[in-house]
Amino acid sequence: MRYAFVTGADRGVGLGLAKGLLERGLYVFAGQFAEAGGELARLEEAFGGRLKVIPLDIDNAESVSKAIAAVSGITDRVDILINNGAILGDIEATIEDGLDFEEMDKVFRVNALGSLRMSNGLIGPILNSDSKLIVNISSEAGSIGSCWRTACMLIACQRRR
Ligand SMILES: NC(=O)c1ccc[n+]([C@@H]2O[C@H](COP(=O)([O-])OP(=O)(O)OC[C@H]3O[C@@H](n4cnc5c(N)ncnc54)[C@H](OP(=O)(O)O)[C@@H]3O)[C@@H](O)[C@H]2O)c1
Repeated sequence: MRYAFVTGADRGVGLGLAKGLLERGLYVFAGQFAEAGGELARLEEAFGGRLKVIPLDIDNAESVSKAIAAVSGITDRVDILINNGAILGDIEATIEDGLDFEEMDKVFRVNALGSLRMSNGLIGPILNSDSKLIVNISSEAGSIGSCWRTACMLIACQRRR
C-alpha cells in the first residue's frame, strides 16, 4: 500500500487530488480544515477503509502534532505529502492602500510556515518511503520568472489620473 497526505483536502484542488489518489489505489490521509462532513464524508463512503479524514489546521502546532500521531497509528511510511492547504488574503490591495499586515502575517504563517511544519513533522515517515516526495502547491503568482503582471500598475496609474 502507498500512503499520501493531502492538506486542505475538504474542497478545491486538495479534494480533487485526494480523490485522484484514491482512484489510483493509494491510502489517503485528508487534512480537513472545515467542519466535518461535506465532500470528504461522501468520499469516505465511496472509498471505505482507504481514506482517513483528519481535522487539521496547519497554522496550529498542536493540530499538526495530533494529525501526525494519527498517521503514525496507521503507518510509519508516507510516500507523498501534498502541501495544498492555503489562504489567499486580500489580493486586490496595492502599495497605495492601507495594507492589512496582520492578515499578511496570517497568510505567511499558513502558506509558508504551515507547509514547512507539515514537512518537518512528517519527514521521518517520508524518508522511510521509496519515493520521498513532498509536493508544495504554489502559484504562477509566486514565481520569480513567470509572474508578469499589469493589474497593480494599471490600478496605480488610473488613480493618479
Ligand atoms: N485555484 C487557483 O486558481 C490557484 C491558483 C494558484 C495557486 N493555487 C494554490 O492551489 C492550492 C489549492 O487552491 P484552491 O483553489 O483549491 O483553494 P481553496 O479552494 O481555497 O482550498 C484551500 C484549502 O485549504 C484549506 N485551508 C485553509 N486554511 C487552512 C489551514 N490553516 N490549515 C489547513 N487547511 C487550510 C481550506 O479549508 P476551508 O475549505 O475550510 O477554507 C481549503 O480546503 C493552494 O495552495 C493555492 O494557493 C490555486
